[in-house]
Amino acid sequence: MRFSGRVVVVTGAGAGIGRTIAGRFGAEGAQVVVADLDAESAERTAKEIPGARTAVVDVTDRASVRAMTADLPVDVLVNNAGGATDVPFEDLGEDQWDRDVDLCLKGTFLCTQAVLPAMLRRGRGAIVNVASVNGLAHFGNEAYSAAKAGVLSLTRSIAVRYGPHGIRCNAVAPGTVRTAIWDERVRRNPEVLDRLGGWYPLRRVGTPDDVAAAILFLASDDAAWITGATLPVDGGLMAGNQRMTDDILGSGST
Ligand SMILES: NC(=O)c1ccc[n+]([C@@H]2O[C@H](COP(=O)([O-])OP(=O)(O)OC[C@H]3O[C@@H](n4cnc5c(N)ncnc54)[C@H](O)[C@@H]3O)[C@@H](O)[C@H]2O)c1
Repeated sequence: MRFSGRVVVVTGAGAGIGRTIAGRFGAEGAQVVVADLDAESAERTAKEIPGARTAVVDVTDRASVRAMTADLPVDVLVNNAGGATDVPFEDLGEDQWDRDVDLCLKGTFLCTQAVLPAMLRRGRGAIVNVASVNGLAHFGNEAYSAAKAGVLSLTRSIAVRYGPHGIRCNAVAPGTVRTAIWDERVRRNPEVLDRLGGWYPLRRVGTPDDVAAAILFLASDDAAWITGATLPVDGGLMAGNQRMTDDILGSGST
């Protein structure tokens, strides 16, 4: 078991991808801290994981984050809490911009800063940030995308600055993953995820397990010489666009 006895904090672990990440760390022996704004869902996740504890935290609030990490010898931090506001750019309000940037980028900053002293004291630690393909290219949700691009920049900065102290920092950039954040879009258009799957070279959208597997790899000693990296977990989306190529070349070989 790759994480026996290690203290692993997963933010946004009450639901969606975070819940699966927390479960997989637990299955590999970690002492998991299920951190979420929503106490009820955090409890639900923690009940599924032997030895897990919950932390009710707002990752956008420094005092709340500090209370979660105080005296906690964190080995692994997964900055997973995040979310997007679905509003066309021309209508995007300042409060909506702030919400996405605070949740995705400021939350990653605050949680990372809070676990650093314990990692520096012990000369080791691994941080994995959950970004998005939206941080690499345009797929809508401009505030969210700018925040996720910021997360990728912060990932590199932390990796370079703290690498000499034994701390690694990497990011995953998932494509579409079926979680509750898709519920409203699926309600509006029940076909949306099947249709989206057609844009992915692997011809499907992702699952929370697809993302969690990559995160556990990056957090583990198997990735001991990997830091500052962004791993797309996207069914090949960022590798290129065959539909466009077919249009250009007038072929339909695939
Ligand atoms: N689902 C996708 O298609 C997709 C794609 C790419 C990236 N991502 C990223 O993956 C991560 C998880 O997404 P998901 O789909 O599982 O989301 P989700 O909405 O299903 O779960 C997010 C969890 O974060 C918690 N949370 C919200 N605000 C918080 C706060 N201020 N402090 C602490 N916890 C808070 C929520 O209570 C919830 O339990 C996010 O960073 C998201 O941007 C998701």
